[in-house]
Amino acid sequence: MKLDELKKIKEDGLSQANSASSSEDIEKIRLSYLSKKGLIPKVMSEIRNVPIEEKAEFGQTINSFKIELNEIIKTKQKKTTSKNNNNSFDLTLPGQWKKLGTGHPITQVTERINSIFKQIGFSIAEGPDIESVYNNFDALNTPADHPSRDEQDTFYLNNKDLLRCHTSPVQVRYMKDNKPPIRIISPGRCYRRDTPDATHSASFHQIEGLYVDNNVSLADLKGTISYFAKELMGATVKTRFRPHYFPFTEPSFEVDFMHPTNGWIEILGAGLVDPNVFSNVGYDSNNISGFAFGMGVERIAMILYGIKDIRNLYENDSRFLNQF
Ligand code: DAH
Repeated sequence: MKLDELKKIKEDGLSQANSASSSEDIEKIRLSYLSKKGLIPKVMSEIRNVPIEEKAEFGQTINSFKIELNEIIKTKQKKTTSKNNNNSFDLTLPGQWKKLGTGHPITQVTERINSIFKQIGFSIAEGPDIESVYNNFDALNTPADHPSRDEQDTFYLNNKDLLRCHTSPVQVRYMKDNKPPIRIISPGRCYRRDTPDATHSASFHQIEGLYVDNNVSLADLKGTISYFAKELMGATVKTRFRPHYFPFTEPSFEVDFMHPTNGWIEILGAGLVDPNVFSNVGYDSNNISGFAFGMGVERIAMILYGIKDIRNLYENDSRFLNQF
């Protein structure tokens, strides 16, 4: 065989290999050139018949042909098998996005209320679900015979501890650890021995508010609550204060908001902090004043979203939750 012939064979072989795309074509080329009975071994065995002056170049040419062809075939084999196994990873394709969930309606409402109060300088203070009987009742000036203390109403863990029935004990904790002025809201979970129905749940959420400073008056409470009402339900919403009794405030009120579609609805309890509560946390009750309020998050979520049954909020049915 002549060197020129070999060069032609090499050129052909490499171009065939380069343009092969299916794994069958690649295998065919491999068999016809590289297998034992293929062209390359055959040419190699004929090297002794090559004229002496061409031998060196002939040898180099056939060697480099073999190496280059092998290289091309190997890379192509890798590409096509990974394609067949579906393992190929094309970085240029757009990603597949998992649909993001939404915040739970209770979380959303809590965050909204938090941010309304943060805008006017309140910060968040949280307390534990397991609370002392003292912080939950005594420090809050709750008389020994108050019905909420009843075992029928509150989950007691032992003589000293219970699952808090409201977020008001956070007031006590915070005042014990901090000096006035105080502006906090305290969102959190509460527990009562209620039988579940459309409006009751044994575990629910409240948001507590506490403002303590010199010369705090009912006007401050009313101004704050009416700002809150407007931010929550719209600029035309009116508020109404009805006299009520809470052990920890004096005077005390239940506060209704005039909702555009539902009319007057009770939203929160509020009042001026009772001097006994100030004394219980070690403040000088003659020289300090404040207001406090507390509201149920589920109730507000149900009003805002038109939810008819509180239990929907706890069932984790994605058909329900995806609406928010
Ligand atoms: N703790 C009361 C309840 O669970 C709500 C409440 C009323 C909180 C008046 C207050 C308040 O801070 O001043 O029904």
